[in-house]
Amino acid sequence: MLEQQALFDQAHQIVFLTGAGVSTASGIPDFRSANGLYKQNQNAEYFLSHRYFQSDPEGFYQFCKDNLYFPDAKPNVIHEKQAAYTKLDKATVITQNIDNLYELAGTKRLVDFHGNLFDVYCEKCGAHVPVEEYLTSRLHKLDQGPLRPNIVLYDEVISQVAINQSLAAMQAADLIVVVGTSMKVYPFASLLEYAKPGVKILAVNQEPLELPGNFEMVVADATDFFGQLEVR
Ligand code: OAD
Repeated sequence: MLEQQALFDQAHQIVFLTGAGVSTASGIPDFRSANGLYKQNQNAEYFLSHRYFQSDPEGFYQFCKDNLYFPDAKPNVIHEKQAAYTKLDKATVITQNIDNLYELAGTKRLVDFHGNLFDVYCEKCGAHVPVEEYLTSRLHKLDQGPLRPNIVLYDEVISQVAINQSLAAMQAADLIVVVGTSMKVYPFASLLEYAKPGVKILAVNQEPLELPGNFEMVVADATDFFGQLEVR
């Protein structure tokens, strides 16, 4: 049995704080590992800015299509076990991922902190269009306005709804589990400051993390850890 199983069994409200490492097993590269997007594209943060979207719309579109969209990717055991806790009303997932895999896993309480690639809208008229339309043209067929995914670009702010939902979940949590994220991006990383004092924080990550305060670090492949976890 997993050494940390009792922590999960005893918790009433878990918050999973997650990042790209939960989707690598689904075939989507992360950002800061050796195979990560930022190691292969030194300018990736610029390519993911609204300034770039405006100054080179075709380049932005190609960058997103070539590097961010994995329409055939499927959820893995990490998404599925976390989703199962949300279906029992025992957890909220707050993710930085924009890949839609938590939705595909049927996650009930989910905050897409950085938005979702599969939610696409026209910046001119505000209408939302199916992602398939965006993947064939970057211009809205009704008004030729620029289509874009509803993700938080580098010079944009996090939605107030996402912040409010995240803070409420953090304040209600009696177990916080950080999974597959380097915790280097703010304001996501500062969510930990909103945990109730003394709440148990567990981190499951392939490489050791430095987090403020006391926490338990499990250096592991998260698919192994969640593969062994029994949701009950
Ligand atoms: P990172 O690439 O910074 O971190 C992913 C972490 O997951 C690394 O520490 C890996 O070691 C770990 N990891 C990878 N596969 C794993 C596995 N199978 N099991 C356990 N750990 C694994 O990605 P994020 O922290 O998600 O923002 O990056 C945060 C944000 O930076 C992203 O949301 C994105 C990017 O800029 C935006 O697009 C706005």
